[in-house]
Amino acid sequence: MTPGGLSERAESLVELMDDPDCDPQRLARTYRRFGVVNRAISGWGSLYRRYLRPHLASLDRPARVLDLGCGGGDVLARLAALARRDHLEVAWTGADPDPRALQVAQRRASAGIEFRRADSAALRAAGETFDAVVSNHVIHHLDSSGLAAFADDTRALSTGVVLHSDIRRGRLAYGLFAVGITPLAAGTFLRTDGLRSIRRSYRPAELAALLGAGWRVEGLAPFRLCALAEGEARD
Ligand SMILES: C[S@@+](CC[C@H](N)C(=O)[O-])C[C@H]1O[C@@H](n2cnc3c(N)ncnc32)[C@H](O)[C@@H]1O
Repeated sequence: MTPGGLSERAESLVELMDDPDCDPQRLARTYRRFGVVNRAISGWGSLYRRYLRPHLASLDRPARVLDLGCGGGDVLARLAALARRDHLEVAWTGADPDPRALQVAQRRASAGIEFRRADSAALRAAGETFDAVVSNHVIHHLDSSGLAAFADDTRALSTGVVLHSDIRRGRLAYGLFAVGITPLAAGTFLRTDGLRSIRRSYRPAELAALLGAGWRVEGLAPFRLCALAEGEARD
């Protein structure tokens, strides 16, 4: 694969971690190491300061925040630490349908942080609502009908902001990741799946066109984007 092959989204590429029969130890190591990768590239510190903190602070009461497709739970734990530092009272829920992800995430459970095995449709069907719903690196995993359902579910689950942060397809993301991941990749799916993820990910205009009315897609760093919407749930 050459970076020239990035002009179109490679939706048919399957990530190794999405194979239900993949090596469980490699998968667990991959989920654990997402913590380091997310810290380095995901930009949740600035998303928290720009969007989440102002909203949570404006509520003037304890808030509830959902991280959908939480994987190993590191993004949720990081957001919880940032809010704690700002003296915001928040109950944090991480949800993921994959029990193998939850096994890793449970190690991060603590007072105010819980993890549940559920997907977006199940939480919506149960009538759950949250003050904010976030996700990291979920939307590029989905096919177009999965994306539409996930986007719709997340608005139905939130009374406030919805933020989906992901990779932005491009040569810079591909080149930087191919080099930067080398020291972290041993014994994991990080290298193969990371490069496949980049090829499966969107450019801002493509994602905006698919998500349609009610959504805004911001390109952040040259290799990141974030889709934002207002939730539609009632308080
Ligand atoms: C690449 S992992 C990202 C994990 C984590 N958010 C991170 O950034 O490290 C994508 C996760 O999304 C989950 N997922 C896929 N479809 C989902 C849905 N409809 N609702 C909730 N989670 C979903 C998968 O089980 C998987 O754990």
